Amino acid sequence: MTTSQLSGSIAVISGASSGIGWATARALAGQGATVLVLARRTERLKELVDVIDADGGQARAYEVDVADADGTERVIRAIGDEHGRIDVLVNNAGFLANGPALDADLSDWHRMIDINLGGVLNLTHAALPYLVSAAEGSRGVADIVSTSSVAGRRVPGSDSNVYAATKHAVGAFSEALRQELSSKQVRVGLIEPGVVRTEMTTGGAKNAPDATTGRPLDPDDVARAVTYMVTQPAHAAVNEILLRPTEQVI
Ligand SMILES: NC(=O)c1ccc[n+]([C@@H]2O[C@H](COP(=O)([O-])OP(=O)(O)OC[C@H]3O[C@@H](n4cnc5c(N)ncnc54)[C@H](OP(=O)(O)O)[C@@H]3O)[C@@H](O)[C@H]2O)c1
Repeated sequence: MTTSQLSGSIAVISGASSGIGWATARALAGQGATVLVLARRTERLKELVDVIDADGGQARAYEVDVADADGTERVIRAIGDEHGRIDVLVNNAGFLANGPALDADLSDWHRMIDINLGGVLNLTHAALPYLVSAAEGSRGVADIVSTSSVAGRRVPGSDSNVYAATKHAVGAFSEALRQELSSKQVRVGLIEPGVVRTEMTTGGAKNAPDATTGRPLDPDDVARAVTYMVTQPAHAAVNEILLRPTEQVI
């Protein structure tokens, strides 16, 4: 592997044990970043570290439940103390349980809020001081990228009630952060994918869009969008990328 645009950078990626997070970790490692990969399934994270290592990249795994504010803060503080900065934070961990409100399990609603929104808040709050100090370093900028969704821009259907609410909330929070942090050279970006073929859409989540037919996006398609965002020159902020499978209508 040749070092590239993120050489010497520290990138923290949540939800890296599968799907979009896994592909993003590989992509950012391919750009020379040291990738610190977070999730609950540590065996999967170890596999990912081995894959990145075999590619010639650098990675380390951390067991984190992003819904646990204290545990998340402990891990991010340990990372920040060891490296002194975080150049790129990818808020990607997510959970989906779609369905009619009349049949819903309230615990699913709370879980989506705790992971999709709470996880973004927990990670971002803990990482902010390290992102700001990274932006003062030689790269001259730091990045927060959150995986939202088409469902963060519009409500794709009544079944996506709370999932869409969490992704819209991530969008509102990100825009406020962007306004606050622009003077500190911290860029804030949202990736808004349509249907991507991952565990979530191949049977892993209640009433998820079905990615087993047609031509959905691949996780690598989304990883390229994240890479594009974080490899711009320091003065150029790509704040939002909406990407759908070509055939997706809604
Ligand atoms: N697939 C799609 O069509 C699609 C479209 C738009 C947006 N998205 C968004 O993309 C992101 C990634 O999803 P994906 O499609 O790649 O699905 P995935 O393969 O199911 O990955 C979800 C990831 O989130 C992690 N995660 C879930 N709960 C967690 C928790 N409490 N603490 C820490 N990590 C947790 C999972 O790891 P562990 O289980 O190991 O903890 C896993 O790594 C999500 O935010 C999702 O909402 C997906």
